[in-house]
Amino acid sequence: MQQLQQISEATDFILSKTKLHPTIGMILGSGLGGLADELENATVIPYNQIPHFAKSEAEGHANELVIGEMEGKVVVAMKGRFHYYEGYTLDEVTFPVRVMKALGVESVLITNACGAINTSFKPGELMIITDHINLAANNPLIGPNNDALGTRFPDLSQAYNAELRQIALKVGKEQGTELQQGVYAWWTGPAYETPAEIRMIRIMGADTVGMSTVPEVIVAAHAKLRVLGISCLTNMACGILDQPLNHEEVIEVAGQVRTKFTRLVKGILKEI
Ligand code: HPA
Repeated sequence: MQQLQQISEATDFILSKTKLHPTIGMILGSGLGGLADELENATVIPYNQIPHFAKSEAEGHANELVIGEMEGKVVVAMKGRFHYYEGYTLDEVTFPVRVMKALGVESVLITNACGAINTSFKPGELMIITDHINLAANNPLIGPNNDALGTRFPDLSQAYNAELRQIALKVGKEQGTELQQGVYAWWTGPAYETPAEIRMIRIMGADTVGMSTVPEVIVAAHAKLRVLGISCLTNMACGILDQPLNHEEVIEVAGQVRTKFTRLVKGILKEI
């Protein structure tokens, strides 16, 4: 019950700062937060002011919730997220998804920067996530289930909503933006994978790998939110090319997709 109280305190606080009532949520990953700057009539709330929100420390992330309008839709966007590798609990990582649901959000766009394992993919491309593999040996729903928030054993067969994926693909086609589709594997990080781990993850059936998204998607499924997942492929995964990985490159490449990413998201918003 404590969780319900915390969700309602955070929600009440946010609603006291804006007259807008968001129906779309966005979690903007490394280097992708610039999209939130394009929201109109925006209210910006630093995470550290919101009751029960943790603070994100990853470079490339601001720490702000932005509520505003885009393409006639009211959006609540997270500029920066909480990562498991920063030491937050999965409750803290996913708390904002609970708050989005309580705010009245119905669909949530969850984005990330990730490494490409599928060798037909290229850095700088965007991928619509079709499914995921949870490699972290952890799950945000472990613990007593609060039936007011969702069912004990949620179904993940439609974790990435088919209708939203179709809309994204259609908009990408209309805009001439090639979109890949594939499976995202969650690696806790913060160290990147080894070449042997990437070979293992490929055999397991993943096309990409990254350090986020899966916990939020599981909680979104629990909350019966519709999810669209978009990955920005910032690099080929470790060992595919004969070169080391670094975070600066991840941020740089994510920044380079800003124009096509923003155009795609705006196009999708028009259709949902
Ligand atoms: N591995 C894990 N996470 C990542 C990567 C990667 O190659 N690139 C961006 N985030």
